[in-house]
Amino acid sequence: MSYLPYPPPVHPLPILVKPPGYDESAGYLRHLLDEIERDIIMPLIIRNHVTVPFKELLKRIVDSYNVNLTTPNERLDFGDSPTRWAYVYVFLMRHSHLVHTALVEMTKFTQNFVSWQYVRTFDVCAIGGGPATDILGFALFLKTLNISSDVQGTVIDKCGEWGDTWTSLHARTSDLNIKNIDYVTYDLTSEGNVPDEVATKIRRAHLVTLTKVVSSLSAFVCKRPAHLRFPFLRAISPGTFVLFIDNESGPHNGLFREAVSYTSGFRVIADFHSDMAFPSVSGPSPNHPLVGWLSFFPAKIGSNRIIFLQKVC
Ligand SMILES: C[S@@+](CC[C@H](N)C(=O)[O-])C[C@H]1O[C@@H](n2cnc3c(N)ncnc32)[C@H](O)[C@@H]1O
Repeated sequence: MSYLPYPPPVHPLPILVKPPGYDESAGYLRHLLDEIERDIIMPLIIRNHVTVPFKELLKRIVDSYNVNLTTPNERLDFGDSPTRWAYVYVFLMRHSHLVHTALVEMTKFTQNFVSWQYVRTFDVCAIGGGPATDILGFALFLKTLNISSDVQGTVIDKCGEWGDTWTSLHARTSDLNIKNIDYVTYDLTSEGNVPDEVATKIRRAHLVTLTKVVSSLSAFVCKRPAHLRFPFLRAISPGTFVLFIDNESGPHNGLFREAVSYTSGFRVIADFHSDMAFPSVSGPSPNHPLVGWLSFFPAKIGSNRIIFLQKVC
């Protein structure tokens, strides 16, 4: 059967009322960031006190994601640990909160979540999942819904070293039900079929997430025919949900929608714009040393596109 998922059957309104767990999940993430700041970030800054390279690194992270990634030119290399921590410091809290809140919002549009309370172990596959931001957001979503199931995660990413960063984060989030996260190194811009190891991980997931990764890939794959652009879409199993979150502006959202339309079997549950901000009470205090210097405001409003799909056949 040919299935044309666009235009989507529902056009949800932007989120105007705080969804359940909005402040609680922000508080949890804020606490996590405080620990990271104390134990990891400040020592990195102090160690480089004279030449301030770590501060420069933070600034580079902020700047590089403030522009649209429309050309394949300069990409951040997450192979070294300070660059990964700089990313965690700037984006983990905000992105995990976005994932949490988008999933809570989605419960309005599908009843399928009801049966999720009976799943003993959730398999979540975060494509371009970096430090497991998406999986943390999912675990917080389960907490909000009072679901005590375990989470088994997989991160598929070009940079396998994110696994070391996750080990440190896991030690600080052991109260969440994330049992284990496997890291699989794979370049998502590779042509041809996805390797078996990657396909197997994707195939068994209850939820596949794509948070802020398609924008990083689009410049590399935009010239390819739609059905060959994101071959990992074909590995997703019937029944699996897909959560896509990315910046509102730029060509990547259109490229992704087109690829979904040319890959059979997807149903669009929701496709909407969101201005959800990280709650300002949970952001750093205005006199925090990094706020003025870096223009670092994790609580600032982000303009994002959220697409929620299910593979149905
Ligand atoms: C902006 S980060 C998003 C990380 C995480 N999903 C989040 O929301 O915080 C982009 C991620 O995509 C990964 N990435 C970039 N290009 C990639 C590629 N060609 N193949 C696989 N992963 C890639 C990076 O290593 C990084 O972890």
